[in-house]
This record gives sequence, C-alpha cells and structure tokens, in this order.
Amino acid sequence: MQKLPLNILASLPLGELRYFDTIGSTNDEALAWAIQGAPDCSLVVADEQTQGRGRAGRRWITPRGTALAFSLILRPTPAETNSPALVTGLAAISVVEALKKAYCLEALIKWPNDVLIGRKKIAGILVESVWAGDCLDAMVVGIGVNVLQESQPAQKELLFPATSLEAELSAADEKRHHDCNLAVDRWRLLREIVATFLEWRPRLGSEDLRNAWERYLAFRGEPVRVWTGSEQPLIGHIIGLAGDGRLRLLVGERIEVIPFGEIHLRPSL
Ligand code: BTN
Repeated sequence: MQKLPLNILASLPLGELRYFDTIGSTNDEALAWAIQGAPDCSLVVADEQTQGRGRAGRRWITPRGTALAFSLILRPTPAETNSPALVTGLAAISVVEALKKAYCLEALIKWPNDVLIGRKKIAGILVESVWAGDCLDAMVVGIGVNVLQESQPAQKELLFPATSLEAELSAADEKRHHDCNLAVDRWRLLREIVATFLEWRPRLGSEDLRNAWERYLAFRGEPVRVWTGSEQPLIGHIIGLAGDGRLRLLVGERIEVIPFGEIHLRPSL
C-alpha cells in the first residue's frame, strides 16, 4: 500500500508530524516526543510497528503496509485534565464516525473503547498520559485499525474475534449506498479519524459527546459479563452510560456503575 501522502493531512490544524516506515510503537515515540515538548496535536504515524502495545500489556503488532497505526499527542485542555477517561470515548466515537463517513460502515463501541463491526474488533485504542509531578502534561491517543486482512492476528491468539476494513468492504451488503467508497485507503481513514476527533474535542464533557458514545454502545440491552478485576464477572444488561462515561449495568434489580480501568466485557450469548 502507498506511503503516507503528506498533503492528505494538510488542511487539519495539527502540530508537527513524524512518519516512520518502521518503528517499535508509535505510542512510545509519542510519549518520548511529548516529554521533549511536542506541540499540541502532533502526530506520529507508522507503516509498521514491531513492538506495538495494546491494553493490559498485550501486544499489538502492525505488519508492514497492512494497517493504520498512529498516535496523537494532546496538551490537555482543562476539560481533558478534569476527565481524562472521556478522551478514550472521544477517540472511539471518532473511529466509529470516520468509518461511517469514509466507508458507510456501521461500527459500534465495546465499552470503553474497542471498535467493532458485526461483533468483531476492527480497531483498538490505547490512551496514555505523561505527568509532570501532579500535573497532567500530555496525553497520547494511540489508535490501531486493521485495514487489510493480513493485519489481523491469528484468531487463536485473540481474546475477541477480529475483522478488517478490507473484509468488511468486501462483504456483500445490499444496504450500502452506491456512492459509498469501496477502495481500501488507510490514509483517507487516518484523515477522517483525526478530523472527527478535532471536531468533537471542544465538546469533551458535553451531553452531546456522552449521548454519541452511548448511542454507539455495542451489546446494549443484551446480557454481558464484565470483569472488573475480581475473579467472578458481573452478569447484567448494559443500560447506558453515566454522565462521566462510566458504564451502567443492570444486575438483577440494581444498577451497577462500572468505573474505567482494566475491564473485560463480553457478550453472554
Ligand atoms: C487494544 O485494543 O488493546 C489497544 C490497541 C492500541 C494499538 C495502537 S496502534 C498505535 C498505537 N501504538 C501502540 O503501540 N499502540 C497503539
């Protein structure tokens, strides 16, 4: 696949850009660059990641030319400093809406931040922070999207089934409008995700953002199991989000509000 055409990002209000043919992890590069003073909205993009990282210490390998892997550096606004967890939701909404705008694909969010199409994972998000003492100095929003089928790890290595942009675009779907894009173009998707993120960013903490995140929740109304660290999962039905983005789960007759953290959520059916 084609290398990053720089003009594709030209109209976006970004900081600086670093592109790598190959790198360990774009998040590691972005964290180091943030410490050295990267300006707000600087972007690290790589064609290949050899040491990419996922949540809970998992690996996220990005084989050359097959996927989208990038990290956006934020100098936090007051709203982001107050509610850093919402940045995760903001990133997930941006991926969902970009897939819709660029490809007419309907994606949903497995709370808090995995992006699914047809109950399979197409994208993952890893948000990390840089602290200067007690002060949140920077946040790094790392996003990985499976673009070609080769980008998906073998199913047996996965905790959750995966899909790719290529697989979803080639799936027969009569509902897709004739002017929906069919060409797999990861740089177009990159542009759309970053543009959508920047459009939503000033509304972090707003009712609008929470509503969008809630609207895109996967498994809503379905029985799910949620592991919050303890051995036994909570079994309940997703009923929505609290004002601060925590998950509301109906367990029997009581409502549990699930905090952010190392959460595992699975459909029960
Ligand atoms: C997950 O689902 O566990 C999160 C995966 C996040 C992967 C992206 S790819 C770009 C960025 N660099 C990394 O090392 N990780 C994130």
